Amino acid sequence: MKTILVATEKPFAKAAVEGIKKIIEDAGFGMALLENYTTKSELLTAAATADAMIIRSDIVDKEVLEASKNLKIVVRAGAGYDNIDLDAATAAGVVAMNTPGQNSNAVAELAVALMVFAARNNFNGSSGTELKGKKLGLHAYGYVSKAVAAIAKGFGMEVFAFDPFVDSRLMLDEGVTPVADAAQLYATCQYVSLHMPATVQTRKSVNYDMLAHMPKGATLINTARKEVVDEEGLLKVFAERPDFKYMSDVEPDCKSEFADKYQGRFFFTPKKMGAQTSEANNNAGLAAAMQIVAFFSTGDKTFQVNK
Ligand code: 3PG
Repeated sequence: MKTILVATEKPFAKAAVEGIKKIIEDAGFGMALLENYTTKSELLTAAATADAMIIRSDIVDKEVLEASKNLKIVVRAGAGYDNIDLDAATAAGVVAMNTPGQNSNAVAELAVALMVFAARNNFNGSSGTELKGKKLGLHAYGYVSKAVAAIAKGFGMEVFAFDPFVDSRLMLDEGVTPVADAAQLYATCQYVSLHMPATVQTRKSVNYDMLAHMPKGATLINTARKEVVDEEGLLKVFAERPDFKYMSDVEPDCKSEFADKYQGRFFFTPKKMGAQTSEANNNAGLAAAMQIVAFFSTGDKTFQVNK
């Protein structure tokens, strides 16, 4: 019998785990569960007997792949797959997949919540501002961005987007104004929300020059990955502009500098929380389980990311 390992350092909601188990067992497979693990060796031990794995932001590198002698498929229940060593997976003959769009609403709601939190001065009791009538720039326009755009329009925000890989007609159809380049997006919008994946090209791509040109009352929202922001450039902007705020779903490497010098102008989740809702866990977890069942039963490789 094939074993599907659910390895989640940050566990899914209980109902999602039950749903995953049902899909796996109904297909005639067995589920192994490794949650809240604190050392890599726990993952290596659990992975040793797995035919398939469902993970979240859990790191699947060469060492994990080498330890998983039976592994045929790893599915990242979520969008970003920068935690999987794709070359090592390909070399080991392991199919890697994600579950695009399944947790996007949860992340979008958090992005908007962070905007409200910033606009209301982190709920510190002082008089804040409203989102209505403000310009929001979406840097990259995928599933999460589309959901952010829909919510932000409900708030009465004017929404702009930059994405070199998306046809601008699609943005226009959704009531979003496309802009020609990233610099223009930052120069136009008081709020900018990041939604690009972490890749070699995007690492540190949100830099001083872009941020320094944002309008007064600038707020950068990061529910993507900390790596896409050039933290040195961000700190330079913070030092120069007391009006600048940074809200991020997860802490930057330089968090202590923010804590020491810029209290009230930032908020960082201690653990990535964007997709941490029961709905998102359910959607992404169940999709991952179904993708694995389809892969083993019919060879379906839709959503493979290491082609
Ligand atoms: C994603 O890439 O899907 C999100 O960052 C969610 O990550 P998580 O599953 O670790 O919460």
